[in-house]
Amino acid sequence: MLLSIAAGMPGITLAEEANSSSQDFGGLPPGAGQAEVYGLCSSCHSLMIVKQQRLSKEAWLDTLDWMIEEQGMPRLPPKSLDLIASYLAEHYGTGGE
Ligand code: HEC
Repeated sequence: MLLSIAAGMPGITLAEEANSSSQDFGGLPPGAGQAEVYGLCSSCHSLMIVKQQRLSKEAWLDTLDWMIEEQGMPRLPPKSLDLIASYLAEHYGTGGE
């Protein structure tokens, strides 16, 4: 009896919802700065453009400056820039990865 009622329910599966609920930050590795890089950098261009770079922290800071001066990125407080550059240099740095 119970079984026949259950079998009469429409079979809806919410596969898509399960997918979109897993926030993966565009494939960025976890760490301090991940959410900032994802939110900021992906608002203008693909994160691929970021992920394919291999730069030192100084060079990342220069890149961020350039993004601010020439590309219209919001001017962030130095602490935020430092966090972002550290994150980028750690994961997308020149350290033989
Ligand atoms: C306001 C828009 C904007 C934001 C925000 C932004 N960018 Fe960019 N970025 C651009 C544009 C536009 C280009 C392409 C410039 C070109 O090729 O002429 C670019 C290009 C780049 C490049 C390629 C540089 C090269 O040598 O070709 C890198 C690396 C980069 N951005 C990193 C970042 C990072 C990291 C962030 C986040 C901290 C960021 N961008 C945020 C607009 C932005």
